[in-house]
Amino acid sequence: MLTYQQALIETASRLKESGSTTPELDALLLLCHVTGKDRIGVYATPKEPLTSEEYSKFDNLVGRREKAEPMAYILGEKGFWEFDLKVRKGVLIPRPDTESLVEAILDIHKDRNAELNILELGVGTGAIILSLLHEMPNAKGLGVDVSPDALACAEENAEANNLDDRLTLRASSWFDNVSEDGFDVIVSTPPYIRTDDIPNLMRDVAHHEPSLALDGGNDGLDAYRHIIDEAPAKLKAGGLLAFEIGYDQADDLKKLLKDSGNFTPAVIVKDLAEHDRVVLAHRL
Ligand SMILES: C[S@@+](CC[C@H](N)C(=O)[O-])C[C@H]1O[C@@H](n2cnc3c(N)ncnc32)[C@H](O)[C@@H]1O
Repeated sequence: MLTYQQALIETASRLKESGSTTPELDALLLLCHVTGKDRIGVYATPKEPLTSEEYSKFDNLVGRREKAEPMAYILGEKGFWEFDLKVRKGVLIPRPDTESLVEAILDIHKDRNAELNILELGVGTGAIILSLLHEMPNAKGLGVDVSPDALACAEENAEANNLDDRLTLRASSWFDNVSEDGFDVIVSTPPYIRTDDIPNLMRDVAHHEPSLALDGGNDGLDAYRHIIDEAPAKLKAGGLLAFEIGYDQADDLKKLLKDSGNFTPAVIVKDLAEHDRVVLAHRL
């Protein structure tokens, strides 16, 4: 039988060959997952053999990773803000960069007890709106998405983190099924990759993550145009529109917001890697 140590060495080499950029870490996380041990537990018992049941499960997961399936789909979860969010195929894996959007909104709404009404367009796993509701205990949220997988996933995450009493989830293409208005905040990380750029994304992303969550049309701006057009009718005067953007989209977003004539000049916030990542504007 294969020991933990042998499994780690053999698997890291298999995964390196298949193109993983983090083969040792992937091997370790997969081994932890099937054995139910944490990293220290695995390293502390290198001679422990995998049972045949563990081995066959492990081999299957390694095979999935060899085909560039993202680790978050294989493990079924991804850390974001203070949560371990459930993730599944068909739903975008939340990115660490997106935490900059949450931080930027919290920087503006410093009163954590404010009774804000927040709308998230394209809720995915619920990463953004659940983080905001967690930080602001009197806030209420509405999260919409067109993907049934995303809505089911967000619901599971809301329940698992006891936030389901303050979050309503609904199927809607952007504002189509949103009859409410007077929101304090409208937030979105819409699909923003140019259609032609999608095949050039990393294999993990291009082959496994849903194009519905990625494809922003010919210039990557389709969703932003639509949302900027309709958001003024749904925001309170002075209400905040907050977007995540691609690193090279700040000028386009500034222009779209200016041309709409309904918003204050856009403020751009950078992520931890110093890339433009967030656009903020208030309704006039
Ligand atoms: C880039 S993902 C963001 C997901 C999540 N907010 C996050 O940050 O991890 C974009 C989301 O928008 C959703 N979406 C795409 N087109 C939509 C539409 N017309 N109306 C509502 N949601 C849409 C996708 O299903 C996806 O969940």
